[in-house]
Amino acid sequence: MSDFKDLRIVDNFYQTSAFFPMPLTLIGTLDEKGEITSFGAYSLVFPYYIAGKGYYAMVLECRNSSNTAKGLLRHGKCTINFIPFSKKNFSSCVDLGFPGDTPEEKMKDFKFHLEEGLSKKDHPEEIYPKIISEAIQVFECTWVKELDGAENDKVEEEYPGPYHDFNGITSKYGAHFILKIDHILMKEKYYDSIINGVTNRNFAPIPTNWGYRDSKNFWCSGYKKPIAVGIPDREVDISSLRYAADRADDKIKFTDDALKMLVKVPRPFLKLVLKGCVDWAKENGVTLIDEKEMKEINDKRAKEKKKK
Ligand SMILES: Cc1cc2nc3c(=O)[nH]c(=O)nc-3n(C[C@H](O)[C@H](O)[C@H](O)COP(=O)(O)O)c2cc1C
Repeated sequence: MSDFKDLRIVDNFYQTSAFFPMPLTLIGTLDEKGEITSFGAYSLVFPYYIAGKGYYAMVLECRNSSNTAKGLLRHGKCTINFIPFSKKNFSSCVDLGFPGDTPEEKMKDFKFHLEEGLSKKDHPEEIYPKIISEAIQVFECTWVKELDGAENDKVEEEYPGPYHDFNGITSKYGAHFILKIDHILMKEKYYDSIINGVTNRNFAPIPTNWGYRDSKNFWCSGYKKPIAVGIPDREVDISSLRYAADRADDKIKFTDDALKMLVKVPRPFLKLVLKGCVDWAKENGVTLIDEKEMKEINDKRAKEKKKK
């Protein structure tokens, strides 16, 4: 503890008592009549369900009197727009973070361009909030209101309680929204980087080290070139892979060379990966998986990823 001081933990501790890395997004929701898409600045928006749930979801923490909370309570839809780093964009986002403006007031001086997302294409008869054309990526989402019994929550003047724990109105001034991700829309350059490989020229310039607020300013560090650090190349004892592979199936077997190609698979995913190989072998009438078969399996996976 030689160099540390004990900092008091107070309301909004993530920016009053800490430097906390956060994304910078503009969240679009529909106004009361469902005619205008209104945008608010949000950073407390994080992945919530990332695997094993049948769908993927984000969680948003916001003031329950905000236009965004009202839009979600009324229409259940939002777009999370990730804006590329520039001082001008940051300043526009800070403007959209000023509490109290109505959707009409906010959108009067809105600096970005809007377009329909994919949800509207999927269901032309429904109304959806628009997306921001300048965004790097956009998540189109639906509020999962059934979670935590929040389906009857609606817009009120005040929220005296009782409150939910993690979805809907969660305190006198607060709300949390679990948001199912319907679409992830990605600009072509960054789509290619994810599918074909990231380099230091096509890594998305999304600011994450911003958000500290003192009594005068919002702060955001400039975006610098990304750096890459290799994934640890730990030599896994092949005998532990052999143990798992021999138990994956009673008929399909793996050679040592095939197993060596799996040394970088993190242990929690090993069973799943072996099962994928076994399924592929059964579909293709293979009983012994060697290096050649492993390459075919990897190629097939790469192609599937590209298709998605
Ligand atoms: C960069 C930035 C990030 C913000 N992040 C959040 C947040 O995550 N949650 C929140 O409740 N308010 C956040 N705020 C404040 C909201 O933007 C503010 O309450 C605004 O009025 C919301 O707009 P809306 O009423 O149109 O939804 C943020 C403000 C700024 C400038």
